[in-house]
Amino acid sequence: MTDMLTPILTQTWDKPRSWKLQTYLNNGGYRGLRTAFAMTPTAVIDSVKASGLRGRGGAGFPTGMKWGFIPVSNPKPKYLVVNCDESEPGTCKDMPLLLASPQLVIEGAIIAAYAVGAHRAFIYIRGEVLHVIRRVRAAVEEAYAAGYLGRNILGSGFSLDITVHAGAGAYICGEETALLDSLEGRRGQPRLRPPFPAVEGLYASPTVVNNCESIASVPAILANGSAWYAQMGTEKSQGSTIYSLSGHVRKPGQYEAPLGITTRQLLEIASGIREGHRLKFFTPGGSSTPLLTPAHLDVPLDYESLAAAGTMLGTKAMQFFDDTVSVVRTTRRWVEFYQHESCGKCTPCREGSWWLVQLLANLEEGKGEEGDIEKILAICDQVSGKSFCTLADGFVACVTSAIAAFRSEFEAGYRLPAWELFPYQKSALFGQTVVAPPPGVSISQEPPRPRRRRAAAQGVIEP
Ligand SMILES: Cc1cc2nc3c(=O)[nH]c(=O)nc-3n(C[C@H](O)[C@H](O)[C@H](O)COP(=O)(O)O)c2cc1C
Ligand code: SF4
Repeated sequence: MTDMLTPILTQTWDKPRSWKLQTYLNNGGYRGLRTAFAMTPTAVIDSVKASGLRGRGGAGFPTGMKWGFIPVSNPKPKYLVVNCDESEPGTCKDMPLLLASPQLVIEGAIIAAYAVGAHRAFIYIRGEVLHVIRRVRAAVEEAYAAGYLGRNILGSGFSLDITVHAGAGAYICGEETALLDSLEGRRGQPRLRPPFPAVEGLYASPTVVNNCESIASVPAILANGSAWYAQMGTEKSQGSTIYSLSGHVRKPGQYEAPLGITTRQLLEIASGIREGHRLKFFTPGGSSTPLLTPAHLDVPLDYESLAAAGTMLGTKAMQFFDDTVSVVRTTRRWVEFYQHESCGKCTPCREGSWWLVQLLANLEEGKGEEGDIEKILAICDQVSGKSFCTLADGFVACVTSAIAAFRSEFEAGYRLPAWELFPYQKSALFGQTVVAPPPGVSISQEPPRPRRRRAAAQGVIEP
């Protein structure tokens, strides 16, 4: 089974000090950039188009096509923004990628910038991950010192500066136009489109915004050729990608495999669901992708097959929940997250998420009333497609898919608290104690967690 894995992005993760430039060079690093410099920018874009690479930030938009939208004739400066905000619940691939292999992202950024004619790139990293920010900054300094960044890179005549920017910890700043506002120093809120970033993005100039993994996928495409990349995956979803397995799976972690692998195959590689339990539901790509059940274990994990199954590949953040988990509690926790992260710009999202949390809380606490489920679905209907950005569609998707698959569990909330049906301590992982609250106490208060050591701040993790 493990021979189904295709470590390309993750190839050097287990090498000693994998994040150092020398380790990267020893393992074939910067080959893709040299190949790109021998080509015209248009040929680089054509090569990425031919590879079939699609954006790994959630929407799956073809990367080469996006680069092709940058108007060459526009005299304004062009910008590249690498989106490493990564805040969707369950999504955890970009941070390990940056920690283990920052030079891969830097090399990808140089190639992308060269292709679109940008001389300034920004790597936007969520603010909470100080250790990742420090590591990427150190890697950028190493790249400057070795002549991979700055003026006249490798004698190619092409110059690029990279700025590593720390966000301030808002999920909405991962949305590309909110991210641009945030980079410009404003409160991050999505912008009206058109104009699209390719026409008027950062500082009203043509801008490409790409996910961290999308950019990291580029060097191997240039080094090995687009045909090599395109032969992995399925006809319309080509290449390989990182699937992040978490939750009640025996070996959680990052698994890099071709698009089109099935959940059953990934679960086998990860040694299955924890002992003595069976899978109840899972997300294919983060909490904003409609959840799936064991009936979907053989659906290929690619853009088309998952759309046909009524969900999305999203960020490939696969969260597994076993039979001890209350889907009502899970849904409530997810919607609480979106309520907290709603930027408040539009009424359906701001108010709808608030109302959903109240109704879901009542159902979880066994205080629901007949008709609550219909009320929830009516609110979802008023929010979906009527909000400014897809954050709102995301929380609607998790609620409606949960009710569609587990309606009777929501109905049980008219009579019984969820913790009586699913004692929370049974779903705890790795010896954590989860204490069910006494009746009347809000279970949105998680049990106290051990204080995390401020490892990065104390310099424990080497930059
Ligand atoms: C609420 C919200 C949060 C998002 N967060 C991220 C994120 O953290 N990282 C990311 O790459 N894309 C995120 N996206 C998608 C981006 O808007 C954009 O589509 C993506 O960065 C484009 O890169 P790609 O084409 O390489 O996938 C988010 C979208 C929304 C609506
Ligand atoms: S849908 Fe929500 S997050 Fe998006 S702009 Fe509207 S209020 Fe903000």
